[in-house]
This record gives sequence, C-alpha cells and structure tokens, in this order.
Amino acid sequence: MHAQFIGADTASDLDVLRRLSSGRFTCRAYQTTPVPDDVIASIVGIAGKSASWCNVQPWHLTIASAHTTEAFRRALVEHAAHATEVDSDLPFPEEYRGPFGDRRRDAGYRLFQALGIERHDHDRRAAQSFENFRLFGAPHVAIVTIPAELGPYAAVDCGAFIGSFLLAAHAHGVATTPQAALARHAKFIRSYFGIGEARQMVCGIAFGYARHDHPVNGFRTTRVPVHEVMTMV
Ligand SMILES: Cc1cc2nc3c(=O)[nH]c(=O)nc-3n(C[C@H](O)[C@H](O)[C@H](O)COP(=O)(O)O)c2cc1C
Repeated sequence: MHAQFIGADTASDLDVLRRLSSGRFTCRAYQTTPVPDDVIASIVGIAGKSASWCNVQPWHLTIASAHTTEAFRRALVEHAAHATEVDSDLPFPEEYRGPFGDRRRDAGYRLFQALGIERHDHDRRAAQSFENFRLFGAPHVAIVTIPAELGPYAAVDCGAFIGSFLLAAHAHGVATTPQAALARHAKFIRSYFGIGEARQMVCGIAFGYARHDHPVNGFRTTRVPVHEVMTMV
C-alpha cells in the first residue's frame, strides 16, 4: 500500500508536528515551579523513541530534582567564575566562519536586542552569557552523556534524542534550554554528579516552565530557506 493511504490522521499529524516544531524555542528565563516526575518520565520516554545506529540508545540523562538543581547551580556558578578555560569531553568548535558565523551573529544579535544590550556593551553581554551557569533560573537540569567507547556516532544518535526531548517537553508545556555552555565544564560536572570517565558529556538541558513576561523569551531565531540546506540531484 502506498504510504499516503496509511493512517487516517496524516494531515493532523503534520499540523501537530509543524505546530510543535515552530512553537518550540530556547527558553532563557524560568519560573521556579518544579516539573512533576511523571511529566519528566513522559518526556524521556517519548524522546527514547528516537532512532539510533543499531538501536544502541547510547544517551543517558542525569536529571536533577529542584532541590539538587539549587545546590548544583550554586556550585557551578562558583566554579565557572574562576575556571574560564574550556574543559569539555567533546572538542568545541574553534571558529564559526562564513555562513555559520553569520547565523551565529544573527541569533546573538536578536538575543541582545531583546534585552536592550548594545553591541559594544561587553560587560552586559558577558553577564548574560554567564546566566548559562545559573541555568537561567530553571528548576531542573539534565546532564546528557554518551559512552566514550562508541565514538562520534553516539553523539549523532544523542542529537536525535535531544531534538525529540525538546519537542516532547514543549508538547507538555515544558520549556527547555539545550546548553553546550555546560559541557565547557564537563569534568567538573561529571565529577559533581559521580559520572565516570567512561561517559562523555554532550550538553546540559535546563528545563521548567517559561517566564513569558521576561523579554529574553520574547525573540525568535530564523532559519535559512530549505534550498540552502539541501541539494536535489
Ligand atoms: C547542542 C546545543 C547546544 C546549545 N547550547 C546553548 C547554550 O549553551 N546556551 C544557550 O543559551 N543556548 C544554547 N543552545 C540554543 C541555541 O542557541 C538555539 O537552539 C538556536 O539559537 C536556535 O534558536 P531556538 O532554539 O530558539 O529555535 C544550544 C542548542 C543546541 C542544539
């Protein structure tokens, strides 16, 4: 049977998918209200349906309760205030050139404009970037790791998982912040949560309920047109 005849809900599935993927955004100001455990488990369960090479499901999340997050936030802020070098498990990009630099600048410009921060106001820019280590006030953080032995394809699998996690959370009304900034302090964070060297930290995901009254949540990023990211041959 041709795929278009399978499932009567095709049109509404597409509508839902479009609505979810357009509505999700990276949240950078949270309410303190914790997310119920069953909602967290549902989000992880949906994300766990992601495809992975040989179905190895290499992702693992260490998820902090609201209480644990508070203590971790304090420890991370103290650590990050002194430890300025990148200490990641996975290599960080050295530079964003050409279109990648342009896209990065545009996203940053929109963020700082929403907050009324001038282009040359390096102090306020740095202070906003440091909010990463306050987890933007989120009541929870997930530390996302993969087994070191599986190499880069585990990170590919994990990226798919993270994408689904963000959408599943959004469908639950839960806002998210994927944070590579946390992976800058991967060794400190793994040690804090007792995660050994057999696993590598990919990123953190702060999550909770968004503060819609905060200007930092009032801007949206753009995407390049489809023809720029595909070549039909
Ligand atoms: C792997 C990954 C790491 C990210 N790291 C950070 C981060 O450290 N801090 C931050 O504020 N946003 C971070 N982001 C969010 C991106 O800036 C954001 O996804 C991008 O600008 C597109 O905006 P949108 O998510 O609102 O659509 C990260 C996103 C991903 C997928």
